[in-house]
Amino acid sequence: MQKIIILDFGSQTTQLIGRRVRELDTFCEILPYNKFPQGDPDIIGVILSGSPFSVYDPEAFKPDLTPIIGNYPVLGICYGAQLMAQTFGGKVEPAASREYGRANLEWFDRSNPLFKGFDENSQVWMSHGDTITAIPDGFQCIASTASVKYAAYYSSTLNADLSTRNSLWAVQFHPEVFHSLQGTQLLRNFVVDICGSRQEWSAANFVETTVAELRQQIGTDSVILGLSGGVDSSVAAVLLHRAIGDRLTCIFVDHGMLRKNEFQQVLEDYKVLGLNVVGVDASERFFTDLAGVTDPEQKRKIIGRDFIEVFNEEARKIVNSKSSDGKCRWLAQGTIYPDRIESLNITGKVIKSHHNVGGLPEEMNLQLCEPLKWLFKDEVRRVGRQLGMSEHLITRHPFPGPGLAVRILGDITPERVRVLQEADDIYIRALRAYRCEDGESLYNKVWQAGVVLLAPVRSVGVMGDERTYEHPVALRAVTSTDAMTADWAHLPYDFLANVSNDIINHVRGVNRVCYDISSKPPATIEWE
Ligand code: XMP
Repeated sequence: MQKIIILDFGSQTTQLIGRRVRELDTFCEILPYNKFPQGDPDIIGVILSGSPFSVYDPEAFKPDLTPIIGNYPVLGICYGAQLMAQTFGGKVEPAASREYGRANLEWFDRSNPLFKGFDENSQVWMSHGDTITAIPDGFQCIASTASVKYAAYYSSTLNADLSTRNSLWAVQFHPEVFHSLQGTQLLRNFVVDICGSRQEWSAANFVETTVAELRQQIGTDSVILGLSGGVDSSVAAVLLHRAIGDRLTCIFVDHGMLRKNEFQQVLEDYKVLGLNVVGVDASERFFTDLAGVTDPEQKRKIIGRDFIEVFNEEARKIVNSKSSDGKCRWLAQGTIYPDRIESLNITGKVIKSHHNVGGLPEEMNLQLCEPLKWLFKDEVRRVGRQLGMSEHLITRHPFPGPGLAVRILGDITPERVRVLQEADDIYIRALRAYRCEDGESLYNKVWQAGVVLLAPVRSVGVMGDERTYEHPVALRAVTSTDAMTADWAHLPYDFLANVSNDIINHVRGVNRVCYDISSKPPATIEWE
């Protein structure tokens, strides 16, 4: 399959470039700046990402571009544009002040193929400290903005014939971000017109080829998979089920800190999908081990450890069973592409944390099967739809592995979990029920939402003629594209007012509702 290579120089928006390319039905891989896969015949073009570095920083990433330049169409974005300018003898200098925000293009070459379909003063998004003050000989300016002379340029000598594989293009702005209003058009012009993508990457295509590959890979063996109720593991399960049917056994562990009725509901959903699921209620064990523990990291450790033990006990039974099905030799996981993208180690410059994938039960000698390992989250959802899964399962918000345990400040008791489950249930139902002007539910507008119980805090209230002295809860809702950064969601006041009333009137133990208006960074999505 044709692919675009995106070389990562450490920008926070590199993954976004990847998602935009995939939206153009074109496969792409994000690789560290110095790991260009030479000799791969499927590569049709290369994109150089932005970077937190200046090209003058001693630590700046400066790969040898010779295997790339002249062999593929190349698009440099921000730092990528500056690196190309510097490499070919242009000039990059510190700007008087860092330029951050919207700008409008002014044209030198309106008919340039990279900008086909662009409006007169198209809005773009800038975020850079250095600026290109001279482009190399043989290069031509395409567009400027009020404060950036070379907002876009290209190599006119190399580009004499567009069909050659050696065209070079560079943009100082970020076409991948939403605020560059025609950024997708620019990427389409590059990927489809200039690189010649056949746009063969689609959910239907993915399902067909992955099912065939899984059959080939697994043969007559059996597979176990841990379900979490989340989108990734559910889609992985349905895909595998399509490939090998009942030779897939899923294990779904209830640690007691799921949402209200979620264990039963999710089990039901899975049964409807025809999956063979073993549901394990291990909540007592988790509550016992968590008793009196208040430290968030300690909570995570205990839950992680117990979870692996419970999962392994069940997995061992399956591996050792003498069923008529093939021997169980595989452990499947819903790992997705962002979990695997190799992050650059840029000490103190870029904050990138990855939620790592759990380990294999060692002595069981299982091989790892990760059918979604090339997909971004939005692609997992598309594949789920292609597989006929319900919107209810596909659009479910992310939910942390340790569940409500990291949304109860202080120690965890079954009663506190019950209180939080009730408040959370009211909130989530209300988000699903509230229709926005475009007919979409508020639930689908936000990335993630939940309630936090401030168990160590008590506040005075009055209900009827009675004084109350109970706990506050905080509502959290964020918008995000990848959970690395997030904004607090601007939920309508009438919605917040109704949820607050409902929670205080119906959940015994809660007498105050707050709304969390912190973004990430500096806060995080979860409170613990
Ligand atoms: P933070 O709180 O770091 O969360 O902004 C980012 C995303 O990760 C989820 N999250 C977790 N997921 N185990 C998980 O599986 C964890 O310990 C954990 N902590 C946070 C969080 O819900 C959000 O989607």
